[in-house]
Amino acid sequence: MRVLFVGDIVGRPGRRAVASLVPRIVRERQVDFVIANGENAAGGKGITATAVDEIIGAGVDVITMGNHVWDNREVFSFIDDEPRLIRPANYPGDCPGQGSHVYTAGGGVRVGIINLSGRVFMAPLDDPFRMADLLVEDLSHRCDIIIVDFHAEATSEKQAMGWYLDGRVHAVLGTHTHVQTSDERILPQGTAYITDVGMTGPADSVLGMERGQALARFLTQRPQRLEVAKGRSQLDAVLLSFDDRTWKAESIERLRFWTEA
Ligand SMILES: [Fe+2]
Ligand SMILES: [Fe+2]
Repeated sequence: MRVLFVGDIVGRPGRRAVASLVPRIVRERQVDFVIANGENAAGGKGITATAVDEIIGAGVDVITMGNHVWDNREVFSFIDDEPRLIRPANYPGDCPGQGSHVYTAGGGVRVGIINLSGRVFMAPLDDPFRMADLLVEDLSHRCDIIIVDFHAEATSEKQAMGWYLDGRVHAVLGTHTHVQTSDERILPQGTAYITDVGMTGPADSVLGMERGQALARFLTQRPQRLEVAKGRSQLDAVLLSFDDRTWKAESIERLRFWTEA
């Protein structure tokens, strides 16, 4: 069983990179199931129904989100009716959408996906560790494989979550920083881990956004409009392989592809 996880898709360039590259990766690497983080898919902030359709149309099975989930208000009109989209499970109170879901991959393999947000240098959501306990307990009875997208800023919090869930889920994959880390590994109890999968979007940018505008923010310390950058894109991802009998993680491989300018 092979699962591809694609890092934060930024704007139209990111969606185009997914459309042009994911079908080829799926074919060439015999991928069975594709997950992508889409929190920046619409203009760099949030997601729209059109962006969901475009990403799913490219062969992605599930879209996870993050702190930008509510940035495009259109999301409120469809998130409750869109099982292929999940947002961080630890938003407090009565929150639209869902934070985890069980999907059926080819061959009837039941894949549970959990989306959680960190709290260090981020909004103070509910405790992601205790929420993970509740969701893992529930999903472990009705899934073959459980994959967690831990959308967080601090490396320490992400590593801590990896250790916390080692042996209880099959993969803990970090998103949000838009910079791919080179620490992919299988933890001792069999959980695949990476601190950050990276970004899918404009390569010559500051985290996907126009570099001149981003720089102006730092230089002037005044509000500055940020738009999705142009030019060639990168697609950052990890390819996970699971044993078809025990479902233990066998390997995690970092991937980066480029589009034409
Ligand atoms: Fe992001
Ligand atoms: Fe984020």
